[in-house]
Amino acid sequence: MKHFLSLEEHSGEYLRAVLDRAGELKRMRGDETFQPLKGQTWALIFSKSSTRTRVSFEVGIRELGGRAMFLSSRELQLGRGEPIKDTARVLGRMVHGAVIRTFSHQEIVDFATFSEIPTINALTDHAHPCQIMADLLSIREKLGSIEDRVITFIGDGACNVATSWIYAAAKFGFQLRVAAPEGFQPSGELLRAAKGQVIVTEDVNEAANQADVLYTDVWVSMGMEEEAEARARVFAGYQINSKVLARAKESALVMHCLPAYRGKEITEEVLEAHQQTIFDQAENRLHAQKGVICSLLGV
Ligand code: CP
Ligand code: NVA
Repeated sequence: MKHFLSLEEHSGEYLRAVLDRAGELKRMRGDETFQPLKGQTWALIFSKSSTRTRVSFEVGIRELGGRAMFLSSRELQLGRGEPIKDTARVLGRMVHGAVIRTFSHQEIVDFATFSEIPTINALTDHAHPCQIMADLLSIREKLGSIEDRVITFIGDGACNVATSWIYAAAKFGFQLRVAAPEGFQPSGELLRAAKGQVIVTEDVNEAANQADVLYTDVWVSMGMEEEAEARARVFAGYQINSKVLARAKESALVMHCLPAYRGKEITEEVLEAHQQTIFDQAENRLHAQKGVICSLLGV
């Protein structure tokens, strides 16, 4: 049984094939004869808020001929303490696949093990692999290649999105630079495990120098709201603004996984100047995830 729980569990070859498939599915969007999920119901189990991930999975599953069933964990018995392994064994007998957004990564791993149905990570505290697949698809479309690029992540270098970027660097062979304040940098253990070409620095300007892509995410990830004030102080210098952008290549892409907090991790001016890239990136969630689903089904 194949799952898509993180980038680290898959080979670069497999991930490249998923991107190729995503590109094909994007080009054939609207072709209703391709219905690999016909007769299937997929559950979307979310313990955190979502706009892009929820909508792109619901639409993607329907476009592939299946039915999507959204389940908020608050309304499931899971919210009253029913173990994940029991929830998984029940759903595994009723639905054909699961897309899960939650806090603990181990919960998704346990769900995948006990449900015995294809399970996809729609964000955990550890990783956001579907986001990075959409980002890589966007970079490939806009720059033609990923392998020889310099991608600079600015912000919380220890968050789920940054972690998935670190594994992506190893799988795709690009140089990743992470500009993050002390205490919010990726751990040495993670960098050693990932084995990618990753430079970690506190210096935003140095990280942005001649970069092909400047990328950011929120300073305060879901579940960390009580740290918002402290984080606003620590991350104050870690913003994509016109000064930082001037350090990157003139042709540099500015990317944001969204939702964006203008005046915090990115300025209004830079976001709006690069809105075409950023919303193409958001749209690619749909195409990339259809590629992930088809790869899990082997179609
Ligand atoms: N980027 C992303 O995952 O957005 P949502 O939280 O809206 O799903
Ligand atoms: N790091 C962010 C990503 C949101 C899409 C979070 O976990 O909230």
